[in-house]
Amino acid sequence: MSGPLSRSVPAGQQNVRARLTRSIHLGSAVAKPILQIIVGSTRPGRVGLPVAEWFRDRAVAHGGFDVELIDLAEVDLPFMNEPNHPRLRQYVHAHTKEWSATIERGDAFVFVTPEYNHGYNAVLKNALDYLHQEWAYKPAGFVGYGGVSAGTRAIQALKPVVAALRMTPVVEAVTIPFVFKLIEDGRLRADDLLNGAADAMLAELARLAEAGRRLRAEAAAV
Ligand SMILES: Cc1cc2nc3c(=O)[nH]c(=O)nc-3n(C[C@H](O)[C@H](O)[C@H](O)COP(=O)(O)O)c2cc1C
Repeated sequence: MSGPLSRSVPAGQQNVRARLTRSIHLGSAVAKPILQIIVGSTRPGRVGLPVAEWFRDRAVAHGGFDVELIDLAEVDLPFMNEPNHPRLRQYVHAHTKEWSATIERGDAFVFVTPEYNHGYNAVLKNALDYLHQEWAYKPAGFVGYGGVSAGTRAIQALKPVVAALRMTPVVEAVTIPFVFKLIEDGRLRADDLLNGAADAMLAELARLAEAGRRLRAEAAAV
């Protein structure tokens, strides 16, 4: 957490909203873009959460975003059960309306993805499929992790999916090989290489988040 006006929520009281790590901008006309860091893995004992928490701290230190950590284990969506195509936004379930409102307010996303069987995990795909317009014209970055492949195959599999939803995948990425060796006391022990990769991706996301905001404002004005 950075800045005297930032707030955080004690462990144990954290839900999707309470995980909000947002600085308050007094006297600032333009709000910072909202970066949503989406934790894909929901597995008990997952390393995805410490990886995401490390990235969250880098994102807060970057200073260009209001940062939210969104844990799909807490969002807890059932398998896609909406009767209508998501592009129509005719949602019938409360869980979808809530998920829609969450993603709608985001200006940029980082998907923290495990590699499962050379792809990304099913919970993440389900969460993506639930919505359509809410994702559009927003940049997407990736933090992948796994064994020797460092999550690169998961990231490559995610890119055409986010592109189909009109997100812009950024080239810069964080890929973490043998991630389990880097977890100590429930935290990711990141080296300079990982920190540098995170910072490079954040810089690109900040650039594209501004551009995406303009695009969406122009589209809304038509
Ligand atoms: C179902 C399953 C499939 C996996 N497949 C791969 C794989 O294809 N490539 C890889 O590098 N690691 C693979 N792994 C190892 C995971 O990368 C490692 O367990 C990692 O901690 C999973 O992320 P999580 O702990 O956040 O769920 C797999 C793990 C699981 C549980």
